[in-house]
Amino acid sequence: MALPLIKAQFFLYLALIKYLMIILPNTVAASEFPTSLPGCPNKCGNITIPYPFGTLPGCYRDGFNLTCNDSFTPPKLILGKRFEVLEINITYAEARVRNFIGYDCYNETANVNSSNPGINIGALKPFLFSHRRNKFTVIGCYTFAFISGNQQDNTSYTSGCVSFCGSLTRTTGEGGSCNGLGCCQTTVPGGLNYYDVSWGFSENKAWLYNPCSYAALMQEDWYNFTVQDLVGYGFYERNKNSVPIVLDWAIREKGTCLESHVESSFSPACQSKHSGCDNTTNGEGYICKCLPGYEGNPYLSDGCRDIDECQKHPCKDGSCINTEGNYTCACPKYTKGDGKTDYCTQKFPYLARVATCLIMLGFAIGFGILLLYFLIVKRIKLLEKRKQKMLKRKFFVQNRGLLLEQSLISSPEDTTQKMRILGLHELEKATNKFDNALIIGRGGHGEVYKGILSDQRVVAIKKSKIVDQDEIDQFINEVVILSQVNHRNVVKLYGCCLETEVPLLAYEFISNGTLFNHLHVEEHCSLTWKHRLRIAVEAARAISYLHSSASISVLHRDIKSSNILLDDYFTAKVSDFGTSRSVQIDQTGITTAIQGTIGYLDPEYYCTGRLTQKSDVYSFGVILAELLTRERPLLSSRKFEGGSLIAYFRSAMNESRLFEILDPLVVNEEHKTELEAVAKLAEMCLRMKGEERPTMKEVEIRLEVLWRSNQEHKHPWTSITSQGLEERQLILPDHYTTANETTLQCSFELELQTSSSYFST
Ligand SMILES: *[C@@H]1O[C@H](CO)[C@@H](O)[C@H](O)[C@H]1NC(C)=O
Ligand SMILES: *[C@@H]1O[C@H](CO)[C@@H](O)[C@H](O)[C@H]1NC(C)=O
Ligand SMILES: *[C@@H]1O[C@H](CO)[C@@H](O)[C@H](O)[C@H]1NC(C)=O
Ligand SMILES: *[C@@H]1O[C@H](CO)[C@@H](O)[C@H](O)[C@H]1NC(C)=O
Ligand SMILES: *[C@@H]1O[C@H](CO)[C@@H](O)[C@H](O)[C@H]1NC(C)=O
Ligand SMILES: *[C@@H]1O[C@H](CO)[C@@H](O)[C@H](O)[C@H]1NC(C)=O
Ligand SMILES: *[C@@H]1O[C@H](CO)[C@@H](O)[C@H](O)[C@H]1NC(C)=O
Ligand SMILES: *[C@@H]1O[C@H](CO)[C@@H](O)[C@H](O)[C@H]1NC(C)=O
Ligand SMILES: *[C@@H]1O[C@H](CO)[C@@H](O)[C@H](O)[C@H]1NC(C)=O
Ligand SMILES: *[C@@H]1O[C@H](CO)[C@@H](O)[C@H](O)[C@H]1NC(C)=O
Repeated sequence: MALPLIKAQFFLYLALIKYLMIILPNTVAASEFPTSLPGCPNKCGNITIPYPFGTLPGCYRDGFNLTCNDSFTPPKLILGKRFEVLEINITYAEARVRNFIGYDCYNETANVNSSNPGINIGALKPFLFSHRRNKFTVIGCYTFAFISGNQQDNTSYTSGCVSFCGSLTRTTGEGGSCNGLGCCQTTVPGGLNYYDVSWGFSENKAWLYNPCSYAALMQEDWYNFTVQDLVGYGFYERNKNSVPIVLDWAIREKGTCLESHVESSFSPACQSKHSGCDNTTNGEGYICKCLPGYEGNPYLSDGCRDIDECQKHPCKDGSCINTEGNYTCACPKYTKGDGKTDYCTQKFPYLARVATCLIMLGFAIGFGILLLYFLIVKRIKLLEKRKQKMLKRKFFVQNRGLLLEQSLISSPEDTTQKMRILGLHELEKATNKFDNALIIGRGGHGEVYKGILSDQRVVAIKKSKIVDQDEIDQFINEVVILSQVNHRNVVKLYGCCLETEVPLLAYEFISNGTLFNHLHVEEHCSLTWKHRLRIAVEAARAISYLHSSASISVLHRDIKSSNILLDDYFTAKVSDFGTSRSVQIDQTGITTAIQGTIGYLDPEYYCTGRLTQKSDVYSFGVILAELLTRERPLLSSRKFEGGSLIAYFRSAMNESRLFEILDPLVVNEEHKTELEAVAKLAEMCLRMKGEERPTMKEVEIRLEVLWRSNQEHKHPWTSITSQGLEERQLILPDHYTTANETTLQCSFELELQTSSSYFST
């Protein structure tokens, strides 16, 4: 993904570098070195006049004044009185000037004309004849010429050389050196500022073709001997009586150059930065030099400029970088694994490599930062997760998860039925993160979601809103009780989650709603008498089981029609064990805070606070009454004016008006005995005093009998007689059969009529 980007950047950089490499040297070359002081003419004709030379006052250093004579074309640059300057060389501190040729000519009889042109430059203080560049040169066939001069220290000097022609022919010795055959040369000492020529002998034995002898101090490498120079007046005429001679010049101040190649304040003529002095090789004084790595005019303040050494390509691969006063072949000189390949010899330019390096570095840093970012984000997430986990654990502990875990582990039931402790994660998955669309019930204290667990079991998940320790306690209570109960008619608790603040409970999902709903809410009640009887039997079985059969007796405490759920086949399932209590079987009763639902609440329990199994029996009686009448226990309706269903039911029973109050849907001559029997049972259950009510077991047995007879009844040939029914009723103990109503001391009934508030669920 990032690769094309890298490539694009790379080529962009390459192009940029190439462009710079082309542009930069040109811009450097464009600036010229200064040669003279500002405002001074630096040329005379085509001859450059570098400082310290100059033609105008203020343009030269003392002794270096020249004259530019414009009357000639091209103009002539004159040193002193008569020396025409041909060239001035700053680096070597030399000046080439025009010299005259000395000659000595004969005809067959006599000396015709001669000239002994001595030169005296003693008046020109900075100048001396260069003893390195000049030689005293004599041209002729029978010639002996002397040079005599004067050195700066006034010592006189005389020397000379002889030239013969001998076997020299016109064709030999072309371009040769002056070795005494037609021409001879001799060196001169340094410090010479004046010389004279004199002729020892110059007799012309070959005057026919060589009438003249010539002698002059001249630039040595300028002159190549040719035989032509001996013929006639050729040499003289061809050179127009002029040969170049090299003068050494210097700053003739004594003892001021202490160290060469060093910037020094003792050599004031060397004005430029990066300049130093050198002792002159000829005479006294010093000359100025640009320091190594610089070139230009050291006598000018900004004369020495850095040499761009790289233009000479001193480095093998062109990786040269010019530095101030030097250069570096900056390419690292490492050799590759085989020891042969010099990395520098590769054609890849150094700068491009640096740029690539930088780009790579950039990307590396970029990736690094990105990586760091991800690591940090991950770390934060991890911390968050850990925090959440700790919170979950905290809730888990707070919700007595440990206790529960232990009780689950120790519970003896088979593992398939065993309740599980579920993770929050699993429940979130089951309910699509508690999707509102999955809410199947909503109550004052929370929601019930439908969900599917990972093992495909459909569950109803109860999620409470209230964060109240009592509430949590109820949850835990329910979990504990349900975990110990396994009954066909008790809603199964599949699992619970303790990782939230309020525990979440996952029940077996019961599809068909509550009994309350079927009886009182739905427009057309689909519950036939047979259904209702079966529901009564199954509910009674469940409650009876809870009271006696479970390992510890469980009081439901909140039996009501809305806590009896129905599945598709109207099988009853008792639910909501939030307020239930488990008590030892032999315990006759415990005193607790009153909890339950008005309308179903045992008045005795309400008045005394003593909780017994009979309280559940009472509540069950109310359900029986509901099943018979299809009336709500509390809400006033058409038949009973403001009173409760129970009072109404009782009075109807007392006045033998049962069939007036029954649900018209179940009134049927066929079921008459069953209806009466159930009504009778309800009345017994609803007795004020607990001890006068039958136990749940007895209620269950009675209902079982009725149910069985109902089952048999469906066959037309086995009709049940009221006699037979009476026989079966004999199973019950006597004292239940007679109602012994006693009024309670507290005004429970009254309160029921006036108060419609719940003091607890
Ligand atoms: C100056 O011009 C003359 C003739 O035009 C030429 O011979 C000579 O070499 C030139 N000198 C320089 C330094 O260019
Ligand atoms: C230039 O040269 C001519 C001819 O030799 C001479 O007459 C004249 O004075 C010179 N001019 C200067 C300014 O020296
Ligand atoms: C150069 O200057 C000196 C004195 O400063 C003077 O005597 C001489 O004539 C000058 N030479 C020329 C060519 O102007
Ligand atoms: C000075 O002379 C040296 C040697 O002859 C030569 O290499 C150099 O280019 C000359 N410099 C100038 C400025 O003429
Ligand atoms: C040689 O030169 C001298 C002086 O100029 C002259 O008198 C003489 O005649 C010349 N000889 C010949 C042969 O021309
Ligand atoms: C010397 O004299 C001869 C004949 O008179 C003449 O041709 C020649 O140019 C003269 N040489 C010089 C150097 O003046
Ligand atoms: C050389 O001789 C000249 C004239 O006699 C004199 O003025 C000068 O001081 C002498 N120089 C030295 C270095 O002796
Ligand atoms: C002299 O000869 C040498 C080699 O033979 C040549 O390089 C040089 O240019 C010649 N010099 C002149 C002034 O003709
Ligand atoms: C120049 O000469 C002086 C005197 O002869 C000497 O002291 C000095 O060291 C020399 N300087 C150099 C750079 O050779
Ligand atoms: C330039 O650099 C080279 C190698 O780095 C070194 O040998 C040389 O002395 C340097 N020259 C100057 C003038 O610093």
